[in-house]
Amino acid sequence: MTISGSKNRYILLRMKIALSMLLKGKVSFKKIKNAAHCWFAQKFRFAKASAFPFMINFELWNECNAQCTFCRTEDGDIYDLNPANKGKTPIQKGKMSLDMYKEIIEQSKDHVLIAVLYVNGEPLMYTDLYKALEYASERKVATLISTNGELLTEKNIQKLLDSGLDFIKIAISGFSQDIFTVQHRGCNIEKIKQNLKNLARLRDEGDHKILVMLDYIYYEYNAHEYQSALELGQELGFIVSRRPGNLNKLSEEHPDLAVHEKPQEDPPQLPVKNLCDWPWKVMTVNWDGGVYPCCDYVVWNDQEPNATFEVGKSNVKEIWNGAAVIDNRTVHLTEGRGGFDICSKCTRVGTAFKF
Ligand SMILES: C[S@@+](CC[C@H](N)C(=O)[O-])C[C@H]1O[C@@H](n2cnc3c(N)ncnc32)[C@H](O)[C@@H]1O
Ligand code: SF4
Ligand code: SF4
Repeated sequence: MTISGSKNRYILLRMKIALSMLLKGKVSFKKIKNAAHCWFAQKFRFAKASAFPFMINFELWNECNAQCTFCRTEDGDIYDLNPANKGKTPIQKGKMSLDMYKEIIEQSKDHVLIAVLYVNGEPLMYTDLYKALEYASERKVATLISTNGELLTEKNIQKLLDSGLDFIKIAISGFSQDIFTVQHRGCNIEKIKQNLKNLARLRDEGDHKILVMLDYIYYEYNAHEYQSALELGQELGFIVSRRPGNLNKLSEEHPDLAVHEKPQEDPPQLPVKNLCDWPWKVMTVNWDGGVYPCCDYVVWNDQEPNATFEVGKSNVKEIWNGAAVIDNRTVHLTEGRGGFDICSKCTRVGTAFKF
């Protein structure tokens, strides 16, 4: 499958997500109106956007049971990607309180289409994950998580299915243990394969309408194992996607493998001229309540949040069109991605990568 093929799958996938949300009664006129307003405000370059984002990302906890090469050190320290800091201080770790999460969902439930319960940690590490998912499901907010799959025990799978989770992605980077652990240090691919089979079985036994995507993190060095992953995914009734692997730290950890990797393709236009979608459509809330324009900010130290959400005090609607967020959008409108260091080399187009 080519990379453009994988883009087509995202369109199909988004249609499947939309259909499943419709069937579960998680789409309303208010939500469509809000999402359309997000799109309209970005397209026609208004600094003030819709009343709410259409998607909220929550960093519930940035801890992980794995230590992927690109993401964190073997000791689990998360890399700070802000080059100005030269990686001296790892990203601080912490947990969001369930109360904070609930209050944000409660305030935005009538307008937000989807809550994404991960940013840069392993969502299955967060013990209140199931309560958090249930809370959103009861309020008809669709949910998405991405996991490395290692902690998908039968008990956890059952709890996820019972929570009403709409969409789960499982990211793998190989199909044999040697290749897999080049990135996924600390994980076991045979265990994950078994977990995937259990997930498919329990989904079918309970007739659960969950969408499952096997996300193959693609490198030159693991290309020969993609077909086996594709076959397993298809056999289990999963959507299989292929995304280019992040090259961070690969040449330091595996210089022999890194020489064969090709840098990702340049986007069709200079990113600086492409207006980013995120500040108009998505709100990212870090574990400490810091509200940011996109998920990249949680791995850049020294970034001022647009606001800090405080339980019992803050208001999502006020933050979303508050002075700091309007200022951020205004810089995007006037200077493009060149206005911020973090944006200047960002090649992200659209919000679909999250799916
Ligand atoms: C930092 S992870 C956090 C969620 C979870 N721990 C996981 O790995 O899926 C967020 C995203 O990174 C992606 N990812 C994982 N390994 C990657 C890699 N080596 N290169 C690029 N993206 C990767 C996953 O597909 C996931 O959607
Ligand atoms: S599993 Fe996800 S969060 Fe954990 S180290 Fe790998 S990419 Fe990072
Ligand atoms: S340009 Fe990139 S880094 Fe900047 S807000 Fe958009 S997605 Fe985030």
